[in-house]
Amino acid sequence: MKVMAICAGRRNGNGEILAKEALCAAQELGAEVELLNLFDYNILPCTGCEDCTMQMGEVAMDPTKKYRGCILKDKDDVDRIIAEMRTCEGIIFAVPTYDLMPSSLYTRLCQRFLAYELSFLLEIGVIDHNPHTVAGLISVGGSMHDWQTLALESLQASMFTMSLSVVDRFMSQRVGRPGNVLLHQDQLDRARKMGENIVKAIQTPVEERTWLGDPNDGVCPVCYSSLVYPGDAHWDGIEFPYECAVCGCGGTLGTNPENGRPMLIIDPENGRVRDRNNDKARAEHLNEIIQTRIGFLQRQGEIQDALKKYRSMKFPTLEIKR
Ligand SMILES: Cc1cc2nc3c(=O)[nH]c(=O)nc-3n(C[C@H](O)[C@H](O)[C@H](O)COP(=O)(O)O)c2cc1C
Repeated sequence: MKVMAICAGRRNGNGEILAKEALCAAQELGAEVELLNLFDYNILPCTGCEDCTMQMGEVAMDPTKKYRGCILKDKDDVDRIIAEMRTCEGIIFAVPTYDLMPSSLYTRLCQRFLAYELSFLLEIGVIDHNPHTVAGLISVGGSMHDWQTLALESLQASMFTMSLSVVDRFMSQRVGRPGNVLLHQDQLDRARKMGENIVKAIQTPVEERTWLGDPNDGVCPVCYSSLVYPGDAHWDGIEFPYECAVCGCGGTLGTNPENGRPMLIIDPENGRVRDRNNDKARAEHLNEIIQTRIGFLQRQGEIQDALKKYRSMKFPTLEIKR
């Protein structure tokens, strides 16, 4: 049993302290543990080349073709980090909140996950088994929830591609300068609890795993996110009155009978057809991407003149001498 913590905060900062506390608890319960601070690695931003998804389409249509992976594979440390993540049954992410969101050091890493889409790699046999990795999320901020509104939800949104299943999350609040969290014993205890929860989840058979975080967390009963919005029609016409911004489950707004707080009441018929936790629902999204691409390729001829016009347009820019 191996548990890793990935920290995107400062070295010896608050996130690292919380990650260490969680790892200590996991270690005491018998886990082999390791800690990666993303500041120690070279992580290039995704170039947006779409080479990975184009290859995925090609390999899906012709299984004799070989998947080469990300074009940046040998240019930085991401391939090694992801290979290491795959050796773990549990991963704890401790990420500082910058401008309400996870810091860019983390988003650089997670936006490279697409080339490593687990269900695709399983499908083509690059990976021989699903490790069913569980995840714990810690957002670390100087403020309270009101200034970390997109932090945990954005972290959660980054879990789907790698099929990481979130079993616990919490928001470390009002910790600013490095070490500030040491004045918050309750938060250190909560990190410890997360370490215990991760081990507990690993030791539970996959189909029996449940949410181990705060039962009153969030508004969505499926992923516990706090972000629900009035739904709009999807590409294929499906529409829900309200949708969870993180997992995509749909339904109506109601009241949680347990605590009287607002709650997304999942439509019993089709409320989970877009549940991003589900490989099938995500495959439908892949279908959307393919349909959009096919539609574009069929009409590509129509845009050639306009494309040339915009390519030749030049505007004053900022020249940087290197
Ligand atoms: C550029 C920047 C933006 C920040 N924005 C927020 C914010 O929106 N909300 C918040 O709660 N804290 C914010 N903070 C504070 C950090 O989240 C806080 O210092 C945290 O403890 C950093 O974690 P670390 O010690 O693990 O590096 C910001 C800090 C920086 C440097």
